[in-house]
Amino acid sequence: MHLAVVGTGYVGLVSAACFAELGHTVIGVDIDEAKVKKLKKGECTIYEPGLEELLKRGLKTGHLSFTTDLAEALPLVTVVFSAVATPPNKDFSADLKAVFTVAEEVARNVDHDLVFVNKSTVPVGTGSKCEEKIKEILRERGVEYHIPVISNPEFLREGCAVQDTLQPDRIVVGINGDKWATELIDELYQPLTRVGKPVLHMQRESAEIVKYASNAFLATKISFINMLSELCEETGGNIRDIANGLGLDDRIGPRFLHAGIGYGGSCFPKDVKALIALSKETGIPLPIVKATHEVNTRQRMRFFQKLLDVLPDKANVAIWGLSFKPKTDDMREAPSLDLIPMLKKAGHTVRAHDPVAMGNAKKMEPDIEYVNSPMEAAKEADAVIVLTEWDAFRGVDLNELKGVMRGKHLFDGRNIYEPEEVRGAGLQYHGIGVS
Ligand SMILES: NC(=O)c1ccc[n+]([C@@H]2O[C@H](COP(=O)([O-])OP(=O)(O)OC[C@H]3O[C@@H](n4cnc5c(N)ncnc54)[C@H](O)[C@@H]3O)[C@@H](O)[C@H]2O)c1
Repeated sequence: MHLAVVGTGYVGLVSAACFAELGHTVIGVDIDEAKVKKLKKGECTIYEPGLEELLKRGLKTGHLSFTTDLAEALPLVTVVFSAVATPPNKDFSADLKAVFTVAEEVARNVDHDLVFVNKSTVPVGTGSKCEEKIKEILRERGVEYHIPVISNPEFLREGCAVQDTLQPDRIVVGINGDKWATELIDELYQPLTRVGKPVLHMQRESAEIVKYASNAFLATKISFINMLSELCEETGGNIRDIANGLGLDDRIGPRFLHAGIGYGGSCFPKDVKALIALSKETGIPLPIVKATHEVNTRQRMRFFQKLLDVLPDKANVAIWGLSFKPKTDDMREAPSLDLIPMLKKAGHTVRAHDPVAMGNAKKMEPDIEYVNSPMEAAKEADAVIVLTEWDAFRGVDLNELKGVMRGKHLFDGRNIYEPEEVRGAGLQYHGIGVS
């Protein structure tokens, strides 16, 4: 099948490369000329394990190509995926400008029937709005094409996005009763359904809500354990034991019960915020979602304040990990972006290391020093703070670390070390929900 994927970011590029891998002919479209230029040469524009290989293979077989011109791509395709960003506005609502721009551009340039698929995370009702906009433009043009709008939200996780796309837990498809669109989408996903991956058909509105429900639920699990970590710190409990005691109940499950400095990234914070905005807009109270956001903000700031409280004047602080989670270079809503300005404002010097995100971090925080190893960052540091649980940090020699540091504070924002081991090396351990 011939398709276009508009927006070649973390979701669009992975989707385009995976659809090409599954045998479809895909044209990736992006307004960012520099990005498209690189992609055409087979240079991956994001860090995502396994992606570059698929990109190169897709280009070589001719199943994958890229353009900046959506109008040029349209005559060739029967399905257009929109995978543009939907970042939070100041009032927490999702910014849908890019989604509507793509829908309008399709309507202005299309010359045949096609299916418009929203892969971006969008508030319930956005599919209807896209459909109305498309119909309005077609009416203005005096043409009649059948352009059903489908919701097909994406559930991939950065860091294992290729695997998640090729082996999804489920594929959610929201269609409001269009037989042709249903058949096309089913055909498109046939390489996955053939090997047993389930497609869930539902109302478009349900599909739009499922995506927010998934992210809000996972974020709530994180905030729930983080909320209890504060109670542990006050009472002497150990949050790891609480998480084990909870998670081994198979009605609850152990995942997303790892206490830390809270969730970040391009999805959980923005999607939780978008639900809060939707609650205001619809008047439907969503108190658990609001509490999830509040706990997350408190958790991050509480930990950072503890660090600021122990630092001497003009301290050296080493930051280990800049991306919002391991195995990605994505810096959106990363804790490091909150902490670095706080440290600089307080007059401290920051030296940071991250295995893959330093390039992106430098664009956002150019005034700190970036170095090539965790030990180099820790040299003469009064405190080391772990913000991302990269595997490379788990295995460091704590005695060597003590040897290179000036001070002795190890702030473990991801609870990756055993407190006793850290103390055994002569360092002072500051974890989350553990004493
Ligand atoms: N990143 C994730 O892990 C993830 C997972 C699931 C769902 N999502 C959702 O998928 C959507 C995309 O997220 P992302 O992280 O890939 O965003 P991104 O910012 O990485 O990529 C968006 C791309 O769209 C391009 N773009 C913007 N306007 C355009 C236009 N008019 N025409 C063509 N290209 C345009 C940008 O240049 C950029 O390359 C969001 O709604 C997000 O919530 C993201």
